[in-house]
Amino acid sequence: MEHLIHSRVKNIEISGIRKFFNMVADRPGLISLTIGQPDFPTPEHVKEAGKEAITGNFTTYTHNAGFLELRQAACDFIREKYGLDYQPDEVITTVGASEALDITFRTILEERTEVILPGPVYPGYEPLIRLCGAKPVYIDTRPNGFRLSAELIAPHLNERTRCIVLPYPSNPTGATLSEQELREIAALVKGRPIWVVSDEIYSELVYNGRHHSIAKWLREQTIVINGLSKSHSMTGWRVGFVFAPSFVTKHMLKVHQYSVSCTSSISQKAALAALTAGKNDAEAMRLQYRERMEYAYRRLIDMGLKVEKPNGAFYLFPSIAAFGQSSFDFAIDVVNKAGVALVPGSAFSQYGEGHVRLSYAYSLDMLKEGLDRLERYIKERQ
Ligand SMILES: Cc1ncc(COP(=O)(O)O)c(C=O)c1O
Repeated sequence: MEHLIHSRVKNIEISGIRKFFNMVADRPGLISLTIGQPDFPTPEHVKEAGKEAITGNFTTYTHNAGFLELRQAACDFIREKYGLDYQPDEVITTVGASEALDITFRTILEERTEVILPGPVYPGYEPLIRLCGAKPVYIDTRPNGFRLSAELIAPHLNERTRCIVLPYPSNPTGATLSEQELREIAALVKGRPIWVVSDEIYSELVYNGRHHSIAKWLREQTIVINGLSKSHSMTGWRVGFVFAPSFVTKHMLKVHQYSVSCTSSISQKAALAALTAGKNDAEAMRLQYRERMEYAYRRLIDMGLKVEKPNGAFYLFPSIAAFGQSSFDFAIDVVNKAGVALVPGSAFSQYGEGHVRLSYAYSLDMLKEGLDRLERYIKERQ
């Protein structure tokens, strides 16, 4: 019966990050710097709010978009933090940013339309785009410090272009876009029949300056994706958000309703605590990530590796091109000979080839041990 599985589903694959992690995870003594998941516990008061939801019987379906107070809190949060202006009917609470992306693409993508993506990029977009019968079009951002720009986008626009994905701060590179760069992209697409899907899941983790959202200049054409997985160390609670004009959310809500009904009511109560009393919870974590980033960046530079200094998220993306191996072969060799796991850059599209991703969502002690091992390995190869 397997031949009856839909060809689009057969043709997508498990993410290269997971594949690599699963391949190497049970090696004894391995230091794995592969996973993009905060290593801090969920803040105590957020956990308490989840427990209270259970004891208080807040355990039933909610409004499909999430209970009103939560949507209001999400609007207040992004107004205060990023100067964005949304009303509760322009918000949907989703099952992580992942579901937000899924319902977004299913709502806006027709078959054979094109979606522009920066390469290298988070591998979660392409399969969802392909499931819609649409086509991902990658733009090589390596010559521009991994940053998409109006200049890079312009030659790729045509009558099939339906969407541009702007995933900044970036997984896997840590790149961010400046206000000026975002304004230029907004000016380029304004008035064209093109959506911008702005995945801002790392918006609370910016190291210099503040986070800017393109929605400030392109509100009518932008669908903002965000969530609490990274900012509040809540990956397992599965809470994300979509912000978009109500003429978009009213359609998205149908897809969301028939797919999941609503986000877990317990997680929603925890999310309310995170966005109100915990609105600045990310700050202490951000400072620690920055310290780790500075440390790991310096170590990689001292090893002679070429690497862009990240300005957000929790990844470094050094070049390993000098070793004359594919990123997959290099990463396997580092696992076998040094006992450190890094994600091969090829997991992030063909434009990630020649790099590896190091996540610094790990303790300084673990980072130090991993980087010591990597340094010994690199010295031996020189
Ligand atoms: C850029 C980006 N978008 C979305 C997600 C998915 O987030 P969530 O766990 O909230 O579904 C991730 C997770 O790693 C990510 O890195």
